Amino acid sequence: MTPEEFRSAAHELVDWIADRRADVELRPVRPDVEPGDIAGRFAAAPPLTPVEASAVLDDLDRLIAPGVTEVQHPMHFGWFPSNASLSSVLGDIASSGLGSLGISWESSPALTEVEEVMVDWMRQLCGLDDGWHGVIQDTASSACLVAMLVARERATDHAQVTTGLGGVAAPLCVYTTEEAHSSVRKGALLAGFGADHIRIVAVDPESRDMRSDALAAEMARDRDAGRIPAIVVASAGSTGTTAFDPIGEIVAVAAVHHAWVHVDAAMAGAALVLPEMRSLFAGLEGADSLSWNPHKWFGTILDCSLMYVRDPAHLIRVMSTNPSYLRSTAGGEATQYRDWGIPLGRRFRSLKLWYQLRIDGIVEIQDRMRRDLDNARWLAEQFRDLPGWEVVAPVRLQTVCVRHTPSALDDPSHGAELDEHTLAWVREINTSGQAFLSPSMLDGRWMVRVSVGVESTERRHLEQLIELMRAAAESPSR
Ligand SMILES: Cc1ncc(COP(=O)(O)O)c(C=O)c1O
Repeated sequence: MTPEEFRSAAHELVDWIADRRADVELRPVRPDVEPGDIAGRFAAAPPLTPVEASAVLDDLDRLIAPGVTEVQHPMHFGWFPSNASLSSVLGDIASSGLGSLGISWESSPALTEVEEVMVDWMRQLCGLDDGWHGVIQDTASSACLVAMLVARERATDHAQVTTGLGGVAAPLCVYTTEEAHSSVRKGALLAGFGADHIRIVAVDPESRDMRSDALAAEMARDRDAGRIPAIVVASAGSTGTTAFDPIGEIVAVAAVHHAWVHVDAAMAGAALVLPEMRSLFAGLEGADSLSWNPHKWFGTILDCSLMYVRDPAHLIRVMSTNPSYLRSTAGGEATQYRDWGIPLGRRFRSLKLWYQLRIDGIVEIQDRMRRDLDNARWLAEQFRDLPGWEVVAPVRLQTVCVRHTPSALDDPSHGAELDEHTLAWVREINTSGQAFLSPSMLDGRWMVRVSVGVESTERRHLEQLIELMRAAAESPSR
């Protein structure tokens, strides 16, 4: 494709993207497809002859786009907000168009240095002190794995360059809660801690936050038994109920054992840009690492996960390889982000943040997030006042967890039927395409999370959602 051909095809594509965003509300939130439907629309064999770009765009429109779940839809309340602000999409396009190779400072000095500036701008916007040093990882899952690896190496006096874990006599332990995201367990398993050494620390039954006295007891028990408490992963805004583990208390307990503290704030870390919400993260300054995803509520298109560490020298020591073909004339003066994570090749991700911060501006982003907090509080109030409905977890940020209990099922002996009821009314809404919600387990019973925060969601959409939920759950046919 020549630059001229690209110019015209790209204009068409951008028009198509803008049109889709403009009329997103007219489409169903969830596509009406079964597994295999989309793949079945493709030829089994790869194409051998080229076609015009317009034919490809036509196929994108006909075959592929109808198979996406419209997470930019204002009636999308599932999982978490996965906002892709159009300003950040421009940065993503710019990143692709520049075609940069991020394998060393020399392979694209701008890629490295804009990332340095962006992580520092974001640090300031989050109210973090300048002892935090940042990098953009692809996802919070990767950041968590990196935290596990650096914690493992700190706890074993860098055994990776000698015997590895095989030579470490004492097992290393990981501490988290049942509220933690599945990536925490995955990271612990991949980093070699072993499932037997993952401790699920008790939570407060109301808030679902980690109990630091229970953490202290678990760590002491392990230490007394000759095991090494290596890392605590604190959830700052858990996926299910937005529980906030008490970071300050956890830091104090972990310090006794010289254990690493990683704060997983994948979704909720965006709230750090709201000064009035920072008390939820009290004690953060004592942690060793933090990650949060601008690619969720904040609105930067996937993938953009910020990771901050207190001790970058330790991180680099664990992650650095420095093969001869990548040796740089820039020496120690330049940051080599390949030594801050797992992949060698990196995209120019910081451009997404740069575009978003320049074009939307932080005040607009903050206003939108405050609108979402208000909307979530309002939604919870509505459900608190409705007979048969219950808000089953504290509303810390923008997620409201609810359950509807018909009077006939209002007895613990009907637990299984209540679960069926919950799943049935959510399924009805989700298959209708009018809205999308994610059910989730809480204390062994299904409930429904309403995750508010899509860029285009206004109060009127919540009013519509309440109608839909009531019609589905309170229907006499249930
Ligand atoms: C608390 C928490 N941690 C980690 C993750 C995983 O994020 P990612 O998809 O960036 O790996 C999520 C995703 O929802 C999350 O809510």
